[in-house]
Amino acid sequence: MSKPKILITRRLPPPALDILSGFCDIELWDSDEPPTKEYIIEHVKDKDGLLCLLTDKIDKEVIDAAPNLKVISTYSVGFDHIDVEYATKKGIYIGHTPGVLTDAVADMAFALLLAIARRIVESDNMIREGGWKIAWAPTFMLGDAVYGRTLGIIGLGKIGTAIARRAKGFNMRILYYDKYRKEKEEKELGAEFTSLEELLKESDFVVLSVTLTPETHHLMNEERLKLMKKTAYLINISRGKVVDEKALLKALTEGWIKGAALDVFEEEPIGKDHPFTKLKNIVLTPHAASATIETRSKMAEIAAKNLLNVLKGEPPIFLVNPDVKNIRPLSQVKMI
Ligand code: GLV
Repeated sequence: MSKPKILITRRLPPPALDILSGFCDIELWDSDEPPTKEYIIEHVKDKDGLLCLLTDKIDKEVIDAAPNLKVISTYSVGFDHIDVEYATKKGIYIGHTPGVLTDAVADMAFALLLAIARRIVESDNMIREGGWKIAWAPTFMLGDAVYGRTLGIIGLGKIGTAIARRAKGFNMRILYYDKYRKEKEEKELGAEFTSLEELLKESDFVVLSVTLTPETHHLMNEERLKLMKKTAYLINISRGKVVDEKALLKALTEGWIKGAALDVFEEEPIGKDHPFTKLKNIVLTPHAASATIETRSKMAEIAAKNLLNVLKGEPPIFLVNPDVKNIRPLSQVKMI
């Protein structure tokens, strides 16, 4: 039996290739730059498996170009770049990498929260620019307290819960809004379930940790930003499109809220001329919340195993679309 053919759309940390190379014929886009969509369409044509990144748009056009495709494994927790419904209809299994990045992303959410509240980046820039003239002054570089304040978490999934755990160490009051009530987390963390409006009105820090769906697209719009306290901060480690950036820009320049810390943007990457870069009351990081050496290598391992499992006729470690089993059972995709 010939080996399954797979396409990997980016250079990945080591375990990925080691795991796959004995079992599959690999075509690798061996670069840190993303391939074009045309490249993916051309090279996925004869493939049984695709290992992609969140920057690769896997839409109907790509899926239709690959009649043999049995599995799409994304090197990410988010899967908004994949047309899940269409892939499921076509009997394609989709794997992703939750769990292994939860703590790294939650750490980053807290790093951003502390950085904006305590003006860390602004202070660092000020020193580098020679602005530190008086050794110590009572009202110099005043920021906002974090310990004991109120944190509102929108989306209490794995990452939201990990953020809440960190907030507990900071003795914060934890409010959350989610589609579902999370009673276990309420007990463990003392998190209080609220309406979205109440959360926005009461929180000193609002963290977005929802997945991007049509319902969460521009969840933070003008109206909702105006509900936040003028002294509050917005932190986004989910997806850029959860925030209406034009509205946020107004909120930050007109003082509807005090500041924001963002790891994700509506269009990425953003350049040095992006209007956010002109503001002092914002901290920006380049979609790097999961970027620790340990996490990125675990993600490579899980993404490779998700793909390999399906081709072996076994469930992936993390399956996005369980309904696919009714369309094409695993026994029918087994090649190894
Ligand atoms: C990062 O944003 C991911 O989805 O893994």
